[in-house]
Amino acid sequence: TKALTVPKIKAMKQAGKPIAMLTAYDYPSARLAEEAGVDIILVGDSLGNVVLGYDTTVPVTLEDMIYHTRAVVRGAPGTMIVTDMPFATYRLGPEETLRNAARIMREGGAHAVKMEGGADLAEEIRRLTASGIPVIGHLGLTPQSVHQIGGYKVQGKDSNDAERLLSDAKALEQAGVFGIVLELVTEPVAAAVTKSVQVPTIGIGAGQNCDGQVLVYHDILRYGSGIRDKRFVKTYADVGETIRNAITSYVEDVKTKAFPEAKHGFPLDDSPSKAEAL
Ligand code: KIV
Ligand code: NA
Repeated sequence: TKALTVPKIKAMKQAGKPIAMLTAYDYPSARLAEEAGVDIILVGDSLGNVVLGYDTTVPVTLEDMIYHTRAVVRGAPGTMIVTDMPFATYRLGPEETLRNAARIMREGGAHAVKMEGGADLAEEIRRLTASGIPVIGHLGLTPQSVHQIGGYKVQGKDSNDAERLLSDAKALEQAGVFGIVLELVTEPVAAAVTKSVQVPTIGIGAGQNCDGQVLVYHDILRYGSGIRDKRFVKTYADVGETIRNAITSYVEDVKTKAFPEAKHGFPLDDSPSKAEAL
């Protein structure tokens, strides 16, 4: 396969072709996402929650994002890879933002970056896009601001909030983003934002009228322990249950000596071809 490009992603909106985005954080998840035909892989800073075990995305570092991006790029060489800029790494001015985004591109191998925020990021976005770094915006619930917001709440509930989302989306588009993630935004407001900009909107918990959808790998697969079922997620498999059952059986087999069996071992007189083993 060949990775989608920024112009092709933008054209998908005009053509009415929905964009399927999924997060991935390592080599096997990236390979599987590519094999399944995901349009864009997002190396989300949600890795802080689902891979690293933090309560929020705030502790995630630039090094974490680069490290995971490298693994994803190795696993999905034919897919567009977008990497989240982590907490505060794009809030110290355009210079510092460019330095950090350039590391994600050069060292990580990402094709684009994503950052949470609206009109206040216009200068940073202009600097990046002028430097060859494509940017996706992220509006609505912005998890890096959870301590400011006071929880993971649905956005766009009153008219002030709706107006601000619309003007932020316009500002992001004017600054040069090639897409906007809308997270936990009420359905009509997400629809209005989608109508008001030429660039695709990619929704998560933002209803049926966005130009694309994004979900977290571990959420759609229930990969992990104690994954909370969220209203905006559709669960496609229960990998956590499958893995737990498999490991339970393995432990049981070792304890009861049901594993290994004779066929798992290497007798002295094995034929050379069988002795290859792997
Ligand atoms: O980090 C992430 O996974 C995200 C998506 C939920 C949009 O930002
Ligand atoms: Na994120």
